[in-house]
Amino acid sequence: MKIFADTGSIKDIEAIAALGILDGVTTNPSLLAKEPGDVKANLKKICEIVKGPVSGEVTATDFAGMMREGRDIAKIDPHMVVKVPLTRDGIKACKALSAESIKVNVTLVFSSSQALLAAKAGATFVSPFVGRLDDIATSGMELIREIVMIYDNYNFTTEVLVASCRHPIHIVEAAKMGADICTCPPSVIDMLYNHPLTNIGLEKFLKDWEKSQAVKA
Ligand code: E4P
Repeated sequence: MKIFADTGSIKDIEAIAALGILDGVTTNPSLLAKEPGDVKANLKKICEIVKGPVSGEVTATDFAGMMREGRDIAKIDPHMVVKVPLTRDGIKACKALSAESIKVNVTLVFSSSQALLAAKAGATFVSPFVGRLDDIATSGMELIREIVMIYDNYNFTTEVLVASCRHPIHIVEAAKMGADICTCPPSVIDMLYNHPLTNIGLEKFLKDWEKSQAVKA
């Protein structure tokens, strides 16, 4: 399963890329609004660091505007993926941008029927938001299970990109279900490797080692 970083922070992306486990990056207008500097220059820099798919989202809500912004985003770098929301105009834009060989990530997906339409419109990625569904007492992971099953039934090539991941259980459950990608905030990527028993165990190994060296000295 691929791991993407869900952030616009170049500093955080550089640190995660250095781990050697980063496959791509997703951004959205809220994440990019927090970062200093020019948005296009920042996205270009992110592509150079990651050398994998980097999603940048349109802010237009009409078809013509999404097409204009989508083409502009795609020109930033060959790794750029255009994110469009799952609306009526977003479905049309997904189909039209995909027909121009522009990769599209359909975002703000909260139901299986939406995911089915994203795949039929030729999306490269579909982004169901698990955390935000959990927030309203609806199982985000159940949605992932349904989408994976529907895409498998019809051999859709759209990759299931699990978004709005809040904790390691989201990632582990997604991997068990066969989802293609999880996009995680940097704090959640840290949670994937941090374990108190690893820290306690390492501390004890090092103490025992030091003691044995002192005896031998
Ligand atoms: C997806 O690409 C979005 O950027 C993101 O995962 C949204 O997550 P949030 O619900 O934590 O804002």
